[in-house]
Amino acid sequence: NKKLKIAIDGPAGAGKSTVAKLVADQLSYIYIDTGAMYRALTYKALKSGSNLHDGSVLKFLLKETEIELEITEAGQAVILDGKNVSEEIRSTEVTNNVSFVATPQEVREEMVRRQQKLAAQGGVVMDGRDIGTHVMPDAELKVFLVASVEERAKRRYEENRNKGYETSLEQLKEEISLRDKRDSEREFAPLKKADDAIELDTTSMSIQDVVNEILHLVSERA
Ligand code: C5P
Repeated sequence: NKKLKIAIDGPAGAGKSTVAKLVADQLSYIYIDTGAMYRALTYKALKSGSNLHDGSVLKFLLKETEIELEITEAGQAVILDGKNVSEEIRSTEVTNNVSFVATPQEVREEMVRRQQKLAAQGGVVMDGRDIGTHVMPDAELKVFLVASVEERAKRRYEENRNKGYETSLEQLKEEISLRDKRDSEREFAPLKKADDAIELDTTSMSIQDVVNEILHLVSERA
């Protein structure tokens, strides 16, 4: 079987990472969470008090930053300069600032370079915002996942509740909308469906439905 490159893009909270992980498991492909890489840099920038709006500062910071995506028994781990920051990069502070760090072209070029290196062998499922348009324009399968903002906020709300903390649904809705707006309106490599991507509206689909649909699309191409 041919080892494909699979790109999964879409707005925040559309279920990209959940679905991408399951698809990768099914196919014994590697899963690459590009959002985690931007989050790791954001975490480091916040910790070091760097200016989150200064592209050359961030570029310099990224140059001396090692970000590894590791498979552990607990699932995927994000290792920043040798330290496991998997939990820290999901904080509200990181979530609400990551779009700023992901804006400058200098930052994106270096991230894309690293991501392309990880994907070079194929047999990869990569999720993000610009995978189909910039990171793997040659991907054999591009999926663009969307869902209503209400549904996405609800999913995040449930996810948080399962982790043991209460959040406000209204606030989550606002945060998600704002992040989508920033990601869609940036000049360089914005969130955008690739022309040859297949759009799936997951609003009323179960996770398994979405996974099955993608596996079906894979089988047509492999
Ligand atoms: O996927 P996740 O929600 O973890 O991504 C966090 C943020 O990282 C996004 O809101 C976006 O600002 C940025 N990102 C990006 N390009 C990617 C992946 C993520 O700009 N390929």
